[in-house]
Amino acid sequence: RVVAVIMVGGPTKGTRFRPLSLNVPKPLFPLAGQPMVHHPISACRRIPNLAQIYLIGFYEEREFALYVSSISNELRIPVRYLREDKPHGSAGGLYSFRDYIMEDSPSHIVLLNCDVCSSFPLPDMLEAHKKYGGMGTLLVNKVSAESANQFGELVADPETNELLHYTEKPETFVSDLINCGVYIFTPNIFSAIEDVLKQKKDRANLRRVSSFEALQSATKALPADFVRLDQDILSPLAGKKELYTYQTLDFWEQIKTPGMSLRCSGLYLSQFRHTNPHLLASGDGKRTATIVGDVYIHPSAKVHPTSKIGPNVSISANARVGAGARLINCIILDDVEIMENAVVIHSIVGWKSSIGKWSRVQGEGDHNAKLGITILGEAVDVEDEVVVVNSIVLPNKTLNVSVQEEIIL
Ligand code: GDD
Repeated sequence: RVVAVIMVGGPTKGTRFRPLSLNVPKPLFPLAGQPMVHHPISACRRIPNLAQIYLIGFYEEREFALYVSSISNELRIPVRYLREDKPHGSAGGLYSFRDYIMEDSPSHIVLLNCDVCSSFPLPDMLEAHKKYGGMGTLLVNKVSAESANQFGELVADPETNELLHYTEKPETFVSDLINCGVYIFTPNIFSAIEDVLKQKKDRANLRRVSSFEALQSATKALPADFVRLDQDILSPLAGKKELYTYQTLDFWEQIKTPGMSLRCSGLYLSQFRHTNPHLLASGDGKRTATIVGDVYIHPSAKVHPTSKIGPNVSISANARVGAGARLINCIILDDVEIMENAVVIHSIVGWKSSIGKWSRVQGEGDHNAKLGITILGEAVDVEDEVVVVNSIVLPNKTLNVSVQEEIIL
C-alpha cells in the first residue's frame, strides 16, 4: 500500500503570495478553477493501492475542514488534514505524524510540496523507484542556469540515476538539474530523520556544556526538532546509494508568487484538454460567449453571450461578466462583477471586486516580474472608464482615477 503526504506549510510561509493569501490559505487558492492542492491530490489518485492522503501544515484546522471533507467524498479516498502546533520543517513535519502515516503499514510514502505545478508522473516514478531499490527517489527537472539557484541543485549519475551531490539554493552554480519537491520514500525515511534529530540533540547538549561561543551560535540555530528535508536529509545522503532521481520532461513550475499562479493556472487548463475536457468551456451554442483557447467557467458564473473570453481564463463562482467584455490571461475570483465593455488582461481580480464600464485592468504579462501582472485584492472597486496598468491594489480600495506601475496600500 501507498500513503501520500502533501506539505502545505502555514500562514507564515507563502508571504510572497500576498495580497491573495490574505483571504484564503495559499494551498486553497484556485488554479484552473480548483484549489492549488487539488491538482497534486488528483494526481495521487492515479497511484495504485493508495490508502490515504494526508495534508500536513500549521494552518488552523478549520481552514481546511470543508475542503478535506468534500474532496474525500468526491474522490472516495480518505483525505485528512494534520496540524502541526508549530513549524517543524519539511522533514520534521513529516516525522511528527509518523504514527498516522504508518497506520496503514505502507510500503511507500509519496511526499509532495503543495506549491509546485506539474503533471506529477507518480505511477511511473513509483515504478522507477522500485527498480532503483534505494530509500528515496526525487523528481528532478532541467531549468535555465540563471534560475537554478532558486531551487535545490543536484548532480545525478547519467547511467544509474543515483543522486551523487545535492546543494540547496547554492550561491555559486552547481547544476541546472533541480529538485522538484516531489518524492517517493520507503518508511526508512523515518529512521533517517530520527538519526538527524539525534545528532541535533547531541550537538545541542554539547553546546550547553561549552559556554559562551555556544551561546552565540545557539541564538542563530534552528530549534532541535526542526529538520529540513533538503539540507538535513538529501545533502548528507547523496552519493550513498540511498537516493535516486527521476527526470520529468513534462511541465513543472514552482508557485511562490501571484504571477506564477496565473501561469500555472494556464498550464493546468491545458492539461485539462487530456484529463478533464468536460471542465473546459466549449463556447458552442448561440447563447454562450465567444471562447478562445482554454477557459474554465464555474457553472454558477453568468457570462454574457456577447463577451469574448480566453485564452487562459478561469472564472470562479457567482462572477458576472457583462456585455462586450474582453478577458485574456486572467483569474476572476468568486463574486466579481465585470461590467459592460470592460477589458481584463494579464490580471488577477480578487473576490467581490467590481470593474466598471469601459474600464481596463491589465498587466504586461511578465509572470516573474513584481509588477508584471495586475492584482486586485478582495473588494476593490474600479470605477467606470478607469485604467489600471501593472499595479497591485490591496483589499477594499476604490479607484476613481487611472494608475500605472503602482502598489496601492
Ligand atoms: N507542514 C509543514 N511544516 N510544511 C512545511 C514546513 C513546515 O515546517 N516548511 C515548509 N513546508 C512546506 C511548504 O509549504 C512547501 O510546500 C514545502 O514544504 C517546501 O517548502 P520550503 O522548505 O520552504 O522549501 P522551498 O519551497 O523554498 O524549496 C523546496 O522546494 C523546491 C521545489 O519547489 C526545496 O526542496 C527545493 O530544493 C526545491 O527545488
